[in-house]
Order: sequence, then C-alpha cells, then structure tokens
Amino acid sequence: MKPKVYVTRRVPDAGLDKVLAACEAEVWEGDLPVPREVLLEKVADAEGLYSLLTERVDGELLDAAPRLRVVSNYAVGFNNIDVAACTARGIPVGNTPGVLTDTTADFAFALLMAAARRIPEAAAYVEAGKWKTWGPKLLLGADIFGATLGIVGFGRIGQAVARRARGFNMRVLCYDPFVTQIDPAIGALVPLDRLLSDSDFVTVHVPLTDETHHLIGAAELAQMRPTAVLINTARGPVVDPDALFDALTTGGITSAALDVTEPEPIPADHRLVGLPNCLIAPHIASGSIATRDKMAVIAAENLLAGLAGDRLPHCVNPEVYGK
Ligand code: GLV
Ligand code: GLV
Repeated sequence: MKPKVYVTRRVPDAGLDKVLAACEAEVWEGDLPVPREVLLEKVADAEGLYSLLTERVDGELLDAAPRLRVVSNYAVGFNNIDVAACTARGIPVGNTPGVLTDTTADFAFALLMAAARRIPEAAAYVEAGKWKTWGPKLLLGADIFGATLGIVGFGRIGQAVARRARGFNMRVLCYDPFVTQIDPAIGALVPLDRLLSDSDFVTVHVPLTDETHHLIGAAELAQMRPTAVLINTARGPVVDPDALFDALTTGGITSAALDVTEPEPIPADHRLVGLPNCLIAPHIASGSIATRDKMAVIAAENLLAGLAGDRLPHCVNPEVYGK
C-alpha cells in the first residue's frame, strides 16, 4: 500500500512526479491556498504533508492529522510551521535550503538596483507618455558601485549577496548575532546600530522568529541615512510596515524595495503600495524556473524519506531523531 499524502498546491512536476509515483497523493488544484477547513479535513488520514509557506502547520492541524509522519515545506523558511509542536509529536519537518540561495541573492540585488536607479518609476514615466526630452535632472538615482551595503543576517543568502557586492566594489558591513567573525576581504562585522547609520543600502536576510519580528522598526529606521534604501527579501514581519511608511513619507529614508510584506499578500489599497518610493514584488525572490524545480525535488525527497522512516536530507528539527 502506498502512503497517503496531501500536497497543498500543484508544485513543479520535477518534484510532484516523484511524489505521485511513490504515494497515493492528493493535490490541492486551486491557484489560491487550500481553505483551512478543507486542509484540516484532508490531513485526517494523511501520512505525509507537502506544504507551502501559505499553510499554517500548528498544533490544531497536527491534532487533526493523527497518522502524520512527516511535514515537508516547499521553502527554505519555515515560520509557517510550529516546529516545536511537530517535534513534540516526533514528526520531522523538512525544508529546501541551499538551492535557492543564489537565486534569492540575485533578486535582492535586482531590487537594490531597481530602487537605486528608480527603474520602476522610469518605466511608469515612459508608459504614461511623460517622456518629452532628455533631462539633466530626470529621475536621478543613487550610485551602487562604491556605496556601503549593510547586510542584516549573514547566513547563506546574506553571504551570497556579499559576493555580488564585491563585483560592484561596495563596502560591506554585516550584522549577525550568530556569527563571530568574517573574512575582512568580504566585509566587517558590526553592531546593528553602526550598520544602520553607516550604510547606503540595508538588505535583510534573517529568518522570521520572535527575536526578528519588527527587527527593523521606527528606532532602527531613524538610525538610517535619509539617502538610504531598505531591501527586504526575507519575511515581511521583520520590518514594521507602519514605521516604514512613516520613514518613506517623512524623508527618514529614500526608498524601499520589498519582496515580502506584512500582511502578505499586501492589499492593493494598502498605503505602502501607492508610494512611488516603495517598490513591492509578490514574494518571488526564489522564483527562477530552475530553482523552483530544484526546490520541488528536495521537498519530494524530504517527504519520501520521512515516509520511509529515513532521516530527512534537510531536516529543521533533527532533535526528533534523538542526539
Ligand atoms: C521563500 O520565501 C522560502 O522561504 O523559500
Ligand atoms: C547620456 O546619454 C550621455 O551621453 O551623457
């Protein structure tokens, strides 16, 4: 008998085909997330759950899923999952680190460059028929080469951003309470307040936890330069959206470029959406064709390993296996 699994969205075939071949799998076919009540019903007899970051996997869901043996999240981040609740039930949780590092770092840099050189505003200007002549002061932006880049969170993705910054001859400052030293050829490890006050660009690469919730709030934005640009490709709630709105509208900082928001999705009538100096993308930083295929395969491998009783190749709660 093949194990029963529930897949909460149609993920790329590269991974989905592996699941369909090995399991009795049901896939939520909607373009929007599976409604909570449907999900709770679907997991009742599921042995494996292949979830997205749009699904909350918490004690309530786990209680509704007495046969569940593995949760495999199609993402590197896992703030949508109550990992402690999974661990308490002996359920391993998988994620997809590594494969999306460079793709996400590319996108963080794309946002940085788009905001610095005001590319979305420039495109809107042309589309609106406003381009009448070459202007000496038209849509002037900030230089990227030689500027100071502050990287908040120096894990896999933060380090990949630092590698890109070298090519632009940027000075790199890093803040990460879990890192004790970094190669001076790459950048300098500094306290957060120093990073904020000394950087032209601040880019956020921390996971969302209780400690990083609103890590960038009013006090932190106030420490940034009025010319600074804030980039967030991590998780929306790492930045306080009200404080960001105030900073963007009172000259506290020059602009922001966000791939993640609070709330997410951000409604079209949200006051941040209308700001010309706030560029917002719909959480697509890991979204290259090749990388989403790789994520789908890793999530499938995690799921199948868990169903077979094997250690997940990428497990976020290895304590389920004992020491
Ligand atoms: C995307 O945001 C991810 O965590 O993979
Ligand atoms: C700009 O197009 C220039 O030629 O300086």
